[in-house]
Amino acid sequence: MKIVEVKLGDRTYPIHIGVPLTHIGDALKEKNFSGKVLVITNTTVGKLYGDMVMESLSNAGFVASITKIPDGEKYKTLETVNNLYQICMDNKLERNSVIVALGGGVVGDIAGFVAATFMRGLPFVQVPTTLLSQVDSSVGGKVGVNHPKSKNMIGAFYQPSMVYTDISTLKTLPEREFNAGLAEALKYGIIRDKKYFTVLERDLIKIKSLHLERVEYTVWRACQLKKWVVELDEKEQGLRAILNFGHTIGHAIESATNYKTYLHGEAVSIGMVCAAKIALELELLDKMWVRRIEKILIRAGLPIKHSIEVDKIIEQIVFDKKVQEGKVRFVLPNGRPGRTIIKDDVPEDVIRKVLEEQRESI
Ligand SMILES: NC(=O)c1ccc[n+]([C@@H]2O[C@H](COP(=O)([O-])OP(=O)(O)OC[C@H]3O[C@@H](n4cnc5c(N)ncnc54)[C@H](O)[C@@H]3O)[C@@H](O)[C@H]2O)c1
Repeated sequence: MKIVEVKLGDRTYPIHIGVPLTHIGDALKEKNFSGKVLVITNTTVGKLYGDMVMESLSNAGFVASITKIPDGEKYKTLETVNNLYQICMDNKLERNSVIVALGGGVVGDIAGFVAATFMRGLPFVQVPTTLLSQVDSSVGGKVGVNHPKSKNMIGAFYQPSMVYTDISTLKTLPEREFNAGLAEALKYGIIRDKKYFTVLERDLIKIKSLHLERVEYTVWRACQLKKWVVELDEKEQGLRAILNFGHTIGHAIESATNYKTYLHGEAVSIGMVCAAKIALELELLDKMWVRRIEKILIRAGLPIKHSIEVDKIIEQIVFDKKVQEGKVRFVLPNGRPGRTIIKDDVPEDVIRKVLEEQRESI
């Protein structure tokens, strides 16, 4: 078991990694929670782990209820949030009640937003059950939902009171989802820690076969790297933007395909290779590192090429540029994994060239 502490003054919180779901009730008690608990999960995760969590809460003496939202990114909407407000009222939640988000990034983002806004804020606990949510989305306090025209457009910065990660839940996670989470873990190596990147290269087979000690290390180190960034720049005024490595093109690819073809981590994988190749074009990174980044993503079972018309991706990048104060911002590796540079003046012909290179013919 490992603990990482996110130090944010009176909003400091622990991330427990490698702890059993059967002890979540005790963990809440140790945190001095005493009020009602509402567990927000989805139909898939609820079926697998809902009873276990409810039993643990009840054994620890909590009055707890559980609600299951439908499974899928398309339900990450204000409508779902509104239904959840009704459930909070039906359950007569009070200021000292706690919301527990049991699931992947979608459940975490929605439940966190409900917690941030219901009665002007209730404490909440993240219990992430996908690799992506364990290495990334459960930490750092970004919560929210999608607007029909733009992803993650409505939200808040609202830190959890605790993150409680049972990595054995990954045993039931579909392989494709696991691989998508690996993309985000690799992102942390590339932007912040060369040694982590090389350890992931060395241990990839073990990690993919769910060697628990190696998975625990993978989650722990990613959380540590994210917490350092969040502590320095909680509200993304500067440094935190490096977490968007691979996201400029990744996001454009997701939008251009209406979020139907690629999982988020898969689109980020393609986006990271494109960013590495842009860095190569701009002479910021040498070929050896680009090859190593490509190779580990392929070994992880992730796509590095896309099959979309390049104009469609460029169109989306231009649309995002309008949303983001007129700048197309690229986070690029600088020299080697572990060092980054943010550039908002990458020439369009360079972006286009790289996107053409990464396009596979179908
Ligand atoms: N808040 C942040 O900082 C942040 C960062 C990155 C991504 N995100 C958001 O995270 C979301 C993606 O999260 P995700 O990749 O976890 O997807 P997800 O929450 O949709 O989960 C993926 C699938 O796995 C299922 N699942 C979850 N845990 C399982 C388990 N243990 N066993 C079996 N099935 C399980 C889910 O029901 C779902 O079908 C996106 O909405 C993205 O915007 C947020």
